Amino acid sequence: MSKFDKLVGQGYNDIFHTISLCTLDIICESALGTNIDAQRRHTKYLDAVFNMKFIIHQRQIKPLYYPNVLFNLIGHGKDQQEYVQILHDFTSNAVKKRKALIDAAGGFENYFKREKSSGHGRMAFLDLMLEMLEKGDLDREGLQEEVDTFTFEGHDTTSAAMNFFIHLMGSNPEIQAKVQQEVDDVVGDTPRDITFDDIGRLKYLEACFKETLRLYPSVPLIARQVTEEVNINGHTLPEGTGVIIIPSMVHKDPKYWTNPDVFNPERFIDNELKHPYCYIPFSAGSRNCIGQRFAMMEEKCVIARILREFKVKSKVRTDQLRLSAELIIRPMYGNHIRFERRSYGDYSQII
Ligand code: HEM
Repeated sequence: MSKFDKLVGQGYNDIFHTISLCTLDIICESALGTNIDAQRRHTKYLDAVFNMKFIIHQRQIKPLYYPNVLFNLIGHGKDQQEYVQILHDFTSNAVKKRKALIDAAGGFENYFKREKSSGHGRMAFLDLMLEMLEKGDLDREGLQEEVDTFTFEGHDTTSAAMNFFIHLMGSNPEIQAKVQQEVDDVVGDTPRDITFDDIGRLKYLEACFKETLRLYPSVPLIARQVTEEVNINGHTLPEGTGVIIIPSMVHKDPKYWTNPDVFNPERFIDNELKHPYCYIPFSAGSRNCIGQRFAMMEEKCVIARILREFKVKSKVRTDQLRLSAELIIRPMYGNHIRFERRSYGDYSQII
C-alpha cells in the first residue's frame, strides 16, 4: 500500500514487478513461515528466483539447449547450477530454522500447542512437511522439491492474475466502482486488513477474479501424455501422444461462452458454465492446482485493500494489451497503472 501511495500523482507506472515481490513475500511467509521482505530488501535469493524463471523459459523455447551437453557448454548451464544452489541453501536454512524451533519446544505436539496458544493457530506448509519427514512419509529431497514447486507455482501465477485484475479494473471503470462498493460494504469506513469472514462476503470481487482468469489464465499451456489410446471427436490419439491444452482457447470457445472477448464478471454470478471443463485456469483432474483456494483468498485480501484505498486507471485499453507467454502469461510491455486516493463512499473514477 505504501508503494502505491508513493505513485499517487506520478502518472502511469509499471507495477508488474512490485506485485510479484508482494506475492513472493506472501508465499514465503505462508509456505515456509519465513519473511524474506522481498518488497524492501534485494537479496541473492530474489535474483536466483527471477533468473531461474528466465533460464527455464529460454530452455523451453530453444531446442538447441535441450541436450544437457549443449546447455552446459553454450547455454545457461553454469549459471543454473549457481542459482539452484542459492535456492536450495535458502530452503534448507528455512528447514533448519523451523526444525530448531520444533526441537526447542520439545517436539511437534508441544510446538503446535504453543503456536496455537500464542494466538497464531496456524501451521506453515513447511510444518506439515516436516511432520511427514519425521514420520518417514517424505525424504529430504522430496521436501526440497515440494518447497521449490510451491514457491515458484505459488507466486508467479498469483502475481500475473493480480496484475491482469488491476488492468481490467483500470479499463472498466463501472465494474471497478461496483467492486469498491462491495468492499466498502464489507470493510466499512475505516481501512483495515481483510478478515477470513470478509473473504466469504466478497462475492462480486470473486466473480471478477474468476472472469480475469478466464480471459488471462496465468498458466498458458498444460502438457500431458496420453496413457492409453483415446478417441476425441473422431480423431484417434495413440498411447504416448503428447498433448498441449491451451486454457485461453478453451475459455474463448463461443460454443461455451457468450461474447467471449468481453470482460463480464456477471457470467460467474449467473453461473454460466455450460460444461464442467470449459473453465480450466487451474487445470482439471488428478494433477490440478492444489493452491487454488489459497490463490482466491490471497487475491481477495490484496485487491480489496488496494481498491479500498485507491482508484486505478490503465494506460492501455484491453484490446491494446500485448501478451507474452513465458512460464506464465504477462503483459509484454508491463502493467502501466495510474493511482489516485479514494475514501469510503467515493465511486467516481479517474477520467
Ligand atoms: C491464480 C493462481 C494460480 C493459477 C492460475 C494456477 C494454475 C495451476 C495450473 C494450471 C496447474 C496445473 C499445471 C499442469 O497440470 O501442468 C497448477 C498446478 C499446481 N499449482 Fe497452481 N495455480 C495458481 C496458484 C497456486 C498457488 C498459490 C500455489 C501454492 C500455494 C499453487 C501450487 C500448485 C502446485 C503445487 C501445482 C502442482 C500440482 C500437481 O502437480 O499435482 N498454485 N497450478
